[in-house]
Amino acid sequence: MNNNLMDKIVALCKRRGFIYPGSEIYGGLGGTWDWGPLGVEMKNNIKKIWWKDVVQLREDMVGIDSAIMLNPKVWEASGHVAAFADFLVQCRTCKGRFRIDELGLDKFYNPNTQILEFKSYEELGDINCPGGGHKFEFDLIGEDDAIGSGLKEVKIKPHKFNLLVPAYLGVLEDRKQLIYLRGEITQGVHINFKNVLDSTRVKIPFGIAQIGKAFRNEITPGNFTFRSREFEQMEIQYYIKPQEPEDKKWYEYWKNFWMDWYANSGIKKENLRFKDHEEGQRAHYAKVATDIEYQAPWGWAEFMGIHHRGDWDLSRHQQYSGQSMKYKDHETGEEYTPFDIESSAGVDRSALFFLIDAYSEENGRIILKLHPKIASYKVAVFPLLANKPELVKVAHKIYQDLKKDFMVAWDDRGNIGGRYASQDEIGTPFCITVDFQSLEDEMVTVRDRDSAKQERVKIVDLTDYLHGKIE
Ligand code: GAP
Repeated sequence: MNNNLMDKIVALCKRRGFIYPGSEIYGGLGGTWDWGPLGVEMKNNIKKIWWKDVVQLREDMVGIDSAIMLNPKVWEASGHVAAFADFLVQCRTCKGRFRIDELGLDKFYNPNTQILEFKSYEELGDINCPGGGHKFEFDLIGEDDAIGSGLKEVKIKPHKFNLLVPAYLGVLEDRKQLIYLRGEITQGVHINFKNVLDSTRVKIPFGIAQIGKAFRNEITPGNFTFRSREFEQMEIQYYIKPQEPEDKKWYEYWKNFWMDWYANSGIKKENLRFKDHEEGQRAHYAKVATDIEYQAPWGWAEFMGIHHRGDWDLSRHQQYSGQSMKYKDHETGEEYTPFDIESSAGVDRSALFFLIDAYSEENGRIILKLHPKIASYKVAVFPLLANKPELVKVAHKIYQDLKKDFMVAWDDRGNIGGRYASQDEIGTPFCITVDFQSLEDEMVTVRDRDSAKQERVKIVDLTDYLHGKIE
């Protein structure tokens, strides 16, 4: 049933122009997606309301847009060159590659030799392959993988792997510099902490927001856009005084802020929950971390993360760059390296969860019950009959006028029922029909997607009416 739901959503996204497989005409490129005309509108809406709520409407926040290509020292300082490295082994049956910790093999890993060492295969016991339904058995890809594999003592060399995507910068082929496409958008903010302090009037506590692309060499991209290799993130680094209970207060504040934000943006509350990261599961930079999870068709899955990063990033950049990252409180004279409470969400992942949550079928018809703020088109305009120029003229004028404020769809094909169905399927919350009565009373019929109720509204009031409904 749930796989079926994902199949339906993937098909709808392709058919109606939300999301297409990346590089499709060349056989695709794993873990990449292209956003079509409806998808880009929806994604822009998510980013727009996010930015409005966290930057425009607040007094303690500014935004930046940092470069994607950063000096490679940034990634050494941030710990990603070391910590984004994983060790992988391959399953003989399904050929899937899995991290050794995913298989519970990390206890056999010797960091000095970088080898998995165990006495015999029996010592391993049965390991279930995450590829599903079978026992995991090592596939020894090269001779070097099995070192001394007389069964008395087995040593296996896992394959080293780094999630950062390398790129080579420079014009001369033999003098290219290795850089990394950013694995998280976060570091572009931290390295500009001083610039923002010096060029604006921010005072702690304050946040720096950013939206932009990130890239990861994901081992197993999948579940549509859920885990991609190229994706967008929306993040806040919120800098606070490095002390208790200040840090706990802000950590709780942002957790609740985001839970409410997603619920107010239309995600059903029962499909959201917090999931704290246990010790040992946290990213290398996090003191404490929580995910907001979504009840996806394949189970509870990370929607976004709230991370108490302490002073990890600023201290490391201070150490690696030799530049002070300290904040001076000009009222008290105190100087300190602030703590950072981070909020980090994926745009593509959010768009997917909005689509899944909004998907419904009624009497065999699809209705995407997206919040009007998120919907690609806010309104569609139809002349009742396409072959009546007097109706088309009025409808087209309304269409042109509303376009100044909203994304508006135009449809004059087929009958009204078919047009409603077509707009319901892409989540357009309102449809306006110009009929013969409109020519006399200068009113139109506005039909609501979710209730299917219709009301007559004066043409001159349409813009205000729609603003009221959407916001
Ligand atoms: N700066 C912290 C950070 O990047 P993360 O938990 O690795 O933390 C944050 O990522 C969010 O970015 C995730 O909750 C998810 O929404 C999104 N994200 C991460 N990896 C992703 C991927 N491969 N594809 C799509 N979205 C991803």
